[in-house]
Amino acid sequence: MDRIQDFIRGIPKAELHMHIEGCIEPDLMFTLAKRNGVSLPWESPEALRDAYKFDNLQSFLNLYFEGCKVLVRKQDFYDVTYAYLVRAHADNVVRAELFIGPQTFIEKGVPLSDLIEGVLGAFRDAERTLGISTGLIISTHRHRSEADALTLLEQIMPWKEHIISIGMGGAEIPHPPSKFARFFAVCRARGFRTCIHAGEEGPSDYVRQAVEDLRVDRIDHGIACLSDAALVAELVKRRIPLTVCPVSNVKLGVVPSLDVHPLRDLLDAGVVVTINSDDPPYFGAYINENFLRCQATLWLEFEQVTALARNSITASFLDEDTRRALLSRLDAYCAEF
Ligand code: HPA
Ligand code: ZN
Repeated sequence: MDRIQDFIRGIPKAELHMHIEGCIEPDLMFTLAKRNGVSLPWESPEALRDAYKFDNLQSFLNLYFEGCKVLVRKQDFYDVTYAYLVRAHADNVVRAELFIGPQTFIEKGVPLSDLIEGVLGAFRDAERTLGISTGLIISTHRHRSEADALTLLEQIMPWKEHIISIGMGGAEIPHPPSKFARFFAVCRARGFRTCIHAGEEGPSDYVRQAVEDLRVDRIDHGIACLSDAALVAELVKRRIPLTVCPVSNVKLGVVPSLDVHPLRDLLDAGVVVTINSDDPPYFGAYINENFLRCQATLWLEFEQVTALARNSITASFLDEDTRRALLSRLDAYCAEF
């Protein structure tokens, strides 16, 4: 067995870009559909797996929102979240900051309290049984209005202490970050850390707007920034992390193949770049598989793998003491390996 592959599997890492409603494994999706009397447009889990072929972000989102229909009750949110955390723990994820987008579910009549309490229940149990650290990011939809995002913000306030950040995802073009400048200003004024998907399918200017107009703490994806050298310099100078999802980018046709993925260029430029899985069953790769494929294709050395894992912990929204403890754990792992 290649030593660097073992090193990747075992290194403590944080996952900062993963959507709870995007991690329903096909078997679990069918179990939940049956439990809730929801009919799915696929005959079997295998047929669903066969449908995982995407032309672009929108074609993926169509399938993703279809799959969301099986999440109805508190127990469903618990089950999908807990299953992911077990799987992530096996990849030596020590910190998981997970997105969920409540607007999808609220509009179908799912009580927000069931959604949030289901997820938080799984967080609590996984923290206790697996020792994994967790954080919840509430994701808003950019294809909806700013007023909708502000409404959601009011609705989640009772759980403010349990929410580490507010994010934004969904169809990127033609919804520039600047459309939500007021929303993000309100989030910041209320003490939330913020992040936004930008520069996935959208242009580098969307990343610039996220930094300059929204003043977010992290950019999700962000790979389009490379076409703007001044913007890259700004990301480096201000140490604004990018949560990059390499296999997702290939599966959605954002980059033609992994061997031309800009991850290595971003790393070499000094950007605080991290590796993440986005929606692992849909793209066929959890976080270690993302690391392994990048290592094999982009010829990452121990030094780069360590930098990527270190960045993930540095870029997390953890309190300073816990962050330092996890970085020490990472250093101890590297020294021992
Ligand atoms: N981009 C935008 N929205 C999303 C994604 C993504 O990669 N995954 C889940 N929702
Ligand atoms: Zn995403």
